[in-house]
Amino acid sequence: MFGEKKVLYSGMQATGTITLGNYLGALKNWVELSNDFPDYERFFGIMDLHSLTVRQNAAEFRKNARSFYAFYVAAGLDPEKNCIYYQSHVSAHAELAWILNCFTYMGELNRMTQFKDKSSKHSDNINAGLYTYPVLMAADILLFQADSIPVGVDQKQHVEICRDIATRFNNLYGDVFTIPNPYIPKGGAKIMSLQEPDRKMSKSDENQNATIFVLDDTDTIIRKFKRAVTDSETEIRYDEEKKPGISNLIDIYAVMTKKTREDVEKEFVGKGYGEFKLAVGEAVSSALKPMQQRYAELLTEKSYLDGFIKANDEKAQYFANKTLRKVQKKVGLTERIR
Ligand code: TRP
Repeated sequence: MFGEKKVLYSGMQATGTITLGNYLGALKNWVELSNDFPDYERFFGIMDLHSLTVRQNAAEFRKNARSFYAFYVAAGLDPEKNCIYYQSHVSAHAELAWILNCFTYMGELNRMTQFKDKSSKHSDNINAGLYTYPVLMAADILLFQADSIPVGVDQKQHVEICRDIATRFNNLYGDVFTIPNPYIPKGGAKIMSLQEPDRKMSKSDENQNATIFVLDDTDTIIRKFKRAVTDSETEIRYDEEKKPGISNLIDIYAVMTKKTREDVEKEFVGKGYGEFKLAVGEAVSSALKPMQQRYAELLTEKSYLDGFIKANDEKAQYFANKTLRKVQKKVGLTERIR
């Protein structure tokens, strides 16, 4: 809660370019959440500090971060009604993260499954930032006194550790933080790799055909779907265990066309995999096309985007600093002389 208003908070790590998985798993839901949470203050961070846990090329990273902002807006997230801002522009994130580091146990961080996964993947760069990633994420959420955190299932553990840290802090210092709840959107499909459908679609997949990027052109999208790995049967039927490839395609088609899995099965009774894959590719590319056009326009309207970035940065700073000052006072840091 912030004043009278409840707060919704989410964000995405600003690494590489947005995938179909990021879009369907997060961004699309955020746009629709405006309906479910109309009276909430809504914040969406572009988490560029989190991105630094993996080595970035500076020029590319900067360009991608801009692209994230433009695509959020192009996808329908209205920057007048939703505070879309850069995490690195609000220094309170880093400051609160430091304080919370001192209220988080190594034993807790050792249990984080994402840390274990990432450190096995990047065994050449297991840095301290990767380890304390969940603490920075807790700071993101707690700074805004957020009530509801829409995230994918894979981030639930991070919201839980955030709740633990907040509860511990509140027990010591009184009610400083709102305890946040994860909100796993109903339609939030988990999109899998097109090449290894038992793994999540990932932007860093070596296999070019495994991942759809939201900025891919129509030919590329259709080609990737045509090459999607399926199974040796012929029936278009949902069965995550036995038919992970087809099931993933059913899910993608279903969310893109707002149909249920059963509707999709019915629509394709007696039809072949080839025809189905083409239909999925076409549905995806025609849904993305208007966003891609808007995106291209936005990148040319520099001052238009800059205006929102500035206003929203300032709004986020205002909210975040309020909480930070309170925390600094509670833990006994010396007050500033004004
Ligand atoms: N860790 C999240 C992810 O990878 C991104 C994130 C960072 C986030 N801070 C957050 C999500 C705060 C929700 C709230 O998807």
